[in-house]
Amino acid sequence: MDDHIAVLAPPPARAVPELTIVVPTFNERDNIRPLLDLIARALDGDSYEVVFVDDDSRDGTLEELQALSRADPRVRYIHRIGRRGLSSAVVEGMLSSSATYLAVIDADLQHDETLLPDMLAVLRGGEADVVVGSRYADGGGIGQWDGTRQLISRAATRIARLIIRADLTDPMSGFFMLTREAFAGSVRNLSTQGYKILLDIFASHPSSLRLREIPYEFRIRQHGESKLDALVTWEYLMLVADKLFGRFVPVRFLMFLIVGGLGVFVHFGVLTLLLKGLGSEFEIAQTGATVAAMTFNFFLNNLLTYRDRRLRGFWRVSGGLVSFYAVCSLGAVANVGVATVAFKEEFDWRLAALAGIVVGVVWNYAATSLFTWKQKK
Ligand code: GDD
Ligand code: MN
Repeated sequence: MDDHIAVLAPPPARAVPELTIVVPTFNERDNIRPLLDLIARALDGDSYEVVFVDDDSRDGTLEELQALSRADPRVRYIHRIGRRGLSSAVVEGMLSSSATYLAVIDADLQHDETLLPDMLAVLRGGEADVVVGSRYADGGGIGQWDGTRQLISRAATRIARLIIRADLTDPMSGFFMLTREAFAGSVRNLSTQGYKILLDIFASHPSSLRLREIPYEFRIRQHGESKLDALVTWEYLMLVADKLFGRFVPVRFLMFLIVGGLGVFVHFGVLTLLLKGLGSEFEIAQTGATVAAMTFNFFLNNLLTYRDRRLRGFWRVSGGLVSFYAVCSLGAVANVGVATVAFKEEFDWRLAALAGIVVGVVWNYAATSLFTWKQKK
């Protein structure tokens, strides 16, 4: 009996920190050490840990994390292989924590870590569920951003209002702190696609979260480079669309439809060119237009619809293109087959054609997602 008690008695372990700061990293070697120093200075005397979530950096970031986590018990890291993504990295870091409060900050020193104690104070006081570092609240700023980036950011702020009620002035902010209850309330409904984790948390919470904003000035990156390209804006719109319509129809399917619709224009453009411009035979012109439209659709889908499973490299792209042609050819056969049967059953010719198109499109969507852009295991 006594033996059991001895076994169950807790070891003189490290205490669970009050705050976990999650830092997503991808090739940030030269920023890690300065960031940890700045955080230590800002949170002097507070109980915290820093959890880095690294997506298999090859620039020496991991070696740096290994060394620092061995030297300092407040530093941990998660090494992910075969996956990329800011949002999912943040979510995994938070899920690995037992702390009362959870924060995210970029590794590249662009966020103002001196806000951390104020954020912590707000949450401790129970005045809010989420505290956001905002570049657009009064007193905040975006440093030296170019005009286009400012414009995009402001437009994104407007669009965010479509899916959340909270008065977020900076819904794209990657710098915030929240209670573990707030996070737990959202975590199972998150899209985790892309990088808009804050907006996602607000949009995914069953009740409305109490918000506080603290203004700050976005700093200039000193080391390394930004990983977010122009397509993140696109991802952002996808997240909003998913929250708006995702219940009714998968956003990916909507995307596929839009791309297909654009393909129709390509088809008619090429058809006109070959028929009227070059005086080709109709069969040849129609064949050329079909191949052009399919090729266009393949590349646009690869870029947008399947951004997360994008095929890269000559051989994978070529293989994908061939399988896309093959699937679409079968889709065309199914389309004509169904339309013909419907027509014989005395459907109106327009309805018969529509039935064929619907069957063809659904087939193309389902089959290309299985064969052309198959999900990695
Ligand atoms: N683990 C992981 N995986 N980390 C990543 C990835 C990824 O795929 N992509 C980027 N990161 C890390 C970077 O290493 C950095 O620490 C942080 O995420 C932000 O990435 P940046 O590449 O520096 O982004 P940014 O400065 O262009 O974007 C900032 O502004 C956006 C608002 O427009 C960030 O603060 C975003 O969070 C913010 O939404
Ligand atoms: Mn940055």
